[in-house]
Amino acid sequence: MHMLRKESLTEIMIVEHGKIYDSFAKFRFDSEKDIKRAFRFLNFFKRQEIEHIKIENKLFKAKLAPLEITRILLKQHDKIKALIMMVYKDVYNRIDSTENAEILQEFLKAHLRLEEKMFYPKLDKKLNNSEIEKLRKEISRRMSKIRKAFF
Ligand SMILES: [Fe+2]
Ligand SMILES: [Fe+2]
Repeated sequence: MHMLRKESLTEIMIVEHGKIYDSFAKFRFDSEKDIKRAFRFLNFFKRQEIEHIKIENKLFKAKLAPLEITRILLKQHDKIKALIMMVYKDVYNRIDSTENAEILQEFLKAHLRLEEKMFYPKLDKKLNNSEIEKLRKEISRRMSKIRKAFF
């Protein structure tokens, strides 16, 4: 009998990042066509990203993660929240959000890659299977609650 290989937290987060990134791309695609739809997708993205940041900030501050990189990632989370507010204000005021949305999208993309390469693989080495499973369940519960509320 051999052990089943458990999913790593890195793999779980790569999937999460993909979903969040795609929801922003969907907003960007729709934003020029239909303001109501644009708002809906922007809200969908915003709710997911804010919840994701809450989950991560807790992970960054956990004793298992005393990594220098978490200081940078925490600062990037603040910047992401500020950029989301800028895009939100544009859409709210019916101003073309293209420029701010592009800045946010690029910043977000780099941030997600940094986490996937420099944070999660290191955290994975410190976590056992049951800790990963516990996190997977919590992430799934919190994120699906938001996703179900929209679609
Ligand atoms: Fe993050
Ligand atoms: Fe993340």
